[in-house]
Amino acid sequence: MFFDKECIYLDASATSRYKPACVVKRVEKELKHSANAGRGGHKAALKALESIEECRESVTELTFECDVILTKSCTEALNIAILGGDYRGEILTTVYEHNSVLRPLERLKKRGARIRYLSSPDGIVTPDLLRSNIRSDTSLVCIQEMSNVTGKIQPIDELGNLLESYRIPFLVDGAQSLGHTECGYNGVTMLAGAGHKGLHGPQGTGFLCVRKGVKLTPIICGGTGTSSSMTEQPSEIPEGFEAGTQNAPGFAGLSEGILWTLKNKRKINRRIRALSEKALEGLGRIDGVVLYSDEPNGVISFNVGSYSSSEVADMLDIEYSIAVRSGIHCAPLIHRWMGTLSRGAVRASFGYGNGISDVDALIYAVKEISEKKKTI
Ligand code: ALA
Repeated sequence: MFFDKECIYLDASATSRYKPACVVKRVEKELKHSANAGRGGHKAALKALESIEECRESVTELTFECDVILTKSCTEALNIAILGGDYRGEILTTVYEHNSVLRPLERLKKRGARIRYLSSPDGIVTPDLLRSNIRSDTSLVCIQEMSNVTGKIQPIDELGNLLESYRIPFLVDGAQSLGHTECGYNGVTMLAGAGHKGLHGPQGTGFLCVRKGVKLTPIICGGTGTSSSMTEQPSEIPEGFEAGTQNAPGFAGLSEGILWTLKNKRKINRRIRALSEKALEGLGRIDGVVLYSDEPNGVISFNVGSYSSSEVADMLDIEYSIAVRSGIHCAPLIHRWMGTLSRGAVRASFGYGNGISDVDALIYAVKEISEKKKTI
């Protein structure tokens, strides 16, 4: 386990704090030998390009046979998939999505697209629910694999099989799930991922996996180091979608992070499950605590008594040095669905760097807070 002198960090859903030594070493090495990948034929630039290509290979090893567009974040990847496609007809998504899906979809709505938001009492989008909502003009389905608010996991494989049979493109937001879930990606057309969460890479890294043959239009234009005599943006995947200087140190680190995560996946998942089970059980026993999560997937949201979520997060931070995220987690529709839009929720999320003593500290602190008399 990783000993953190600054705080008890329970915000792995925002960014994993634990980075394996191989990631740190590789980023440092790459920074010390900086060159611009794909922007020159000299040996140093070619070496940087090798790191970028190595990262693409690691991403396909983690996911499926596809073209990989490397991005600065999962948000950028989702924007490319949503705003870069030619979707004519209705788009289906869920109320559980993050703003990185909701906001680009809202932009499509302004351009005339129709968007429908699915939900169900238990938070799961079953194949039956999806099937009953498919129309003849359904042109895209966007679903987050794991909720960043409740930790609920959707049956992506089954949904993918269904959508494949209808030949409907399926975009999956894997920001929270990659590195944590075991399911496959049958029938998934595009998968967006974050490098800095469950894959233990540096911030500023993400990717979009695109099935071979899928056509998209770049949303950012600029230098690609290819077709440079043309002033029009090339649309080949990946180079047309990676305009501007690439984050070679970041992607070299991400490549190491992915391989490390794959190698240690069972150990990581066992730990996260054990921490989550303990948190669900311990928090669930405290009077006045309302839990919004019921699965041990590393993301536990809750509220305490009549406190707002930010009051609790501030007390945890200031009085107990416990870092959690409060508010609505950039996911307004799921909070409206949970009835917590104005109050938000306190979210504790666990990573490989956490130990049982961190969960004990959280339970102890929340119990004390719940017993305090609210003064205002
Ligand atoms: N989407 C990230 C979170 O849920 C940043 O905290």
